[in-house]
Amino acid sequence: MDSPLKSKNILLGITGSIAAYKTAILTRLLIKAGASVQILMTDAAKGFINPLTLSTLSKNPVYDGVHSEEGWNNHVELGLQADAMLIAPCTATTLGKLANGIADNMVVACYLSARCPVFFAPAMDLDMWTHPSTQSNVQRLQSYGNRLIPVEHGELASGLVGAGRMAEPENIVAFLEQHFHAKEDLQGKTILVTAGPTHEAIDPVRFLGNRSTGKMGVAIAEELAQRGATVHLVLGPSNLKPTHTNINCVRVTSAQEMYEASSQLYPNCEAGILAAAVADYRPRVVADKKIKKKAGDMHIELERTPDIAAALGKTKKEGQLLVGFALETNNELENAKGKLERKNFDFIVLNSLNDKGAGFKHDTNKVSLIYKDNKVQHFELKTKAAVAVDIVDALAVFLNKSIDISR
Ligand code: C5P
Repeated sequence: MDSPLKSKNILLGITGSIAAYKTAILTRLLIKAGASVQILMTDAAKGFINPLTLSTLSKNPVYDGVHSEEGWNNHVELGLQADAMLIAPCTATTLGKLANGIADNMVVACYLSARCPVFFAPAMDLDMWTHPSTQSNVQRLQSYGNRLIPVEHGELASGLVGAGRMAEPENIVAFLEQHFHAKEDLQGKTILVTAGPTHEAIDPVRFLGNRSTGKMGVAIAEELAQRGATVHLVLGPSNLKPTHTNINCVRVTSAQEMYEASSQLYPNCEAGILAAAVADYRPRVVADKKIKKKAGDMHIELERTPDIAAALGKTKKEGQLLVGFALETNNELENAKGKLERKNFDFIVLNSLNDKGAGFKHDTNKVSLIYKDNKVQHFELKTKAAVAVDIVDALAVFLNKSIDISR
């Protein structure tokens, strides 16, 4: 069976403790589990283990400073792309820096930019570990949501015996695996997802379309499937190929085709997430031959396409859920709330084109979830995969509630 760490991007920050020698094994184990490992080191760490050893094992250059020969090492980008950051070994000094935001090295700079879960595996001598200053720093980090990988008890480099040893590499990997172990909270649920753009034919060669890539909807479908749901993904023209075997991908081209596939599938689903950017208009007449250019202007008469969301919202049964998307450029909240009501959604995902890094083509997105009772949940800019987790988490709360009602 594949490790839950397969294909995960792990940012490994190594700081200056004798336990750093174990990071060679740790890196090897992470790579063997299928993770990609990007290593960051402090100068102190380099006294304990050679960066060359680690770059060879991780198959990636090691970043040991905010600057390198190639220029500035972008800690914001590294922090944003990671699925998890692991600081191991984490010295008493580093704990103090992390707790207080003292970003004087690459490890702490990345930590402050990381939006992914952060794990830290302290390593120090017994008295340093039990000192109130260390313990209060550990608590500070835990209060930020960071996860402590507990120290182990045993012989310390000083000769003392007690608590303070860094967890063994095997145990650190097991700790991470437990975190990534796919939740199975959607087992037995069938969910419809629409994604991608639609193309509305003008003639056999031309169409009206939009810039949607389908990335957000496909990420949602993958997350749902990973959590045990059966997913019907109705996907407009997109280069993406969903990978999970629980995804039944129905490829469509036009809004009409998307409408037909979705209205057939939705009645047998517990929920629908409508992430497609469906064209609102299509040419009233589609020429059967390529339209020739002529002198003067040309006019194409357009008619409305079916509103899939509104149609599914109308047929929605008791206990069934519907989630929509709104991409707005102005009066965002107000417009999204209007859509939520008109289309009978349970909640709506608002993404604003005004936010840098959000919307079409990007691998990141910044969303707010708006609920029927006017509650609004704002999220930070994240990878689309991480946004998909937030959206699916919100849906899972509703799905589990509706199970309670039916019981
Ligand atoms: O009205 P607007 O297109 O902005 O609404 C966006 C929401 O409605 C999205 O969830 C989108 O997938 C859905 N929609 C649809 N069918 C349409 C137009 C939009 O399902 N024809």
